[in-house]
Amino acid sequence: MNLAKDFPILKRKFNGKRLVYLDSAATSQKPRQVISALKEFYEKYNANVHRGVYNLSEEATQRYEGARTKIASFIGARAEEIVFTKNCTEALNLLAYSLGKELRGRDEILISQMEHHSNFVPWQQIALERGAKLKFVEITKEGKLNLASLKKQLSKKTKVVALTHVSNVLGTINPIKEIAEIVHKNSGAVLVIDGAQALGHMAVDIKKLGADFYAFSGHKMLGPLGIGCLYGKRELFQKMKPFLYGGKMIKEVSFVGTTFAEPPYKFEAGTQPIAEVVALGAAVDYLNEKGMGKIEESDRKLVSYALKELGKIPEIEIYGPKTAEERGAVIAFNIKGVHSHDVATILDSEGVAMRGGHHCCMPLMSVLKIPGAARASFHIYNTKEDVDAFIRGIRKVREVFK
Ligand SMILES: Cc1ncc(COP(=O)(O)O)c(C=O)c1O
Repeated sequence: MNLAKDFPILKRKFNGKRLVYLDSAATSQKPRQVISALKEFYEKYNANVHRGVYNLSEEATQRYEGARTKIASFIGARAEEIVFTKNCTEALNLLAYSLGKELRGRDEILISQMEHHSNFVPWQQIALERGAKLKFVEITKEGKLNLASLKKQLSKKTKVVALTHVSNVLGTINPIKEIAEIVHKNSGAVLVIDGAQALGHMAVDIKKLGADFYAFSGHKMLGPLGIGCLYGKRELFQKMKPFLYGGKMIKEVSFVGTTFAEPPYKFEAGTQPIAEVVALGAAVDYLNEKGMGKIEESDRKLVSYALKELGKIPEIEIYGPKTAEERGAVIAFNIKGVHSHDVATILDSEGVAMRGGHHCCMPLMSVLKIPGAARASFHIYNTKEDVDAFIRGIRKVREVFK
């Protein structure tokens, strides 16, 4: 889409070469509009929210709650269905702890082999604590979720199904609408979706998807670091116990007990990252202005071109679905005989920032029988020239290791 001019960091050079940033799956870069929103908040509106009766606090509150409404409508939700957290990981921990409190011995939690540790470890630990059973949906040879395996493992005992929308390694886009129908038809479980790699890349209409909960990170969708969100159906949030205690998450506190505020405030203990919430609102404005359809198209073109060019190099093995239509903006691969960290180091010397390693998916690495992989990931500011620089870097790796 060639929006590089909006992203000041992309003017930087490394080793005399312009920065080609291909690590957006870890964190996206931030447009000037988001950086300005942070600065403007601290220069003009900084005060704690909901507490003051003075004008400044009311203005801060309006901006904070205005951003909540904006973020909610971005995914077709209502403001009271959005809880602010530190990141996607904290949103998933909130669910694991809160839903986990209701789990009993014979209950089951179902996740998949392709989950990021953030949607894996919280469920594993809560299952251990509560004596519940953790089960895994298998993936197919092509790196897609095996829906037959999902169906087979669902039963009345399944209380939680937690799956990623888009895999941060395989790139696979999971068919959440279909999954929601299967889960709700074959069990009484709630469906938790990890949207970290989906939001900001594709249009999400939460009501159409049919998920009960949807967790995401602000910093991967052009927003600032330190802010994540959890969408939840209001009736489910109302039934759940809080995760963290203290601050304004209460209705009333006495020496004998406490009653809690209504959601979303019940889950927002202590002072929130107010400026970051406001700046995430600015990121949503930016994404809306560019158009999610156009962003999706831009991702697809880049991934398609990169897959085609990588496919010309014989030593390359690519993980996940074969076509760009079935993928998010992520390509993980290995070059035969070369460690993924060496790939990333040589690309760095060319100004190309990308990753090697297990990408917080160690169980998936064991299924793929690899120690790690190199990964290029894209966003709205990447161009065909960036892919060309990446491919030149890969060819250099081949020469070095010939
Ligand atoms: C699929 C997926 N889920 C969850 C996370 C965790 O996000 P955060 O580090 O913002 O909590 C990531 C981060 O890379 C991810 O790729």
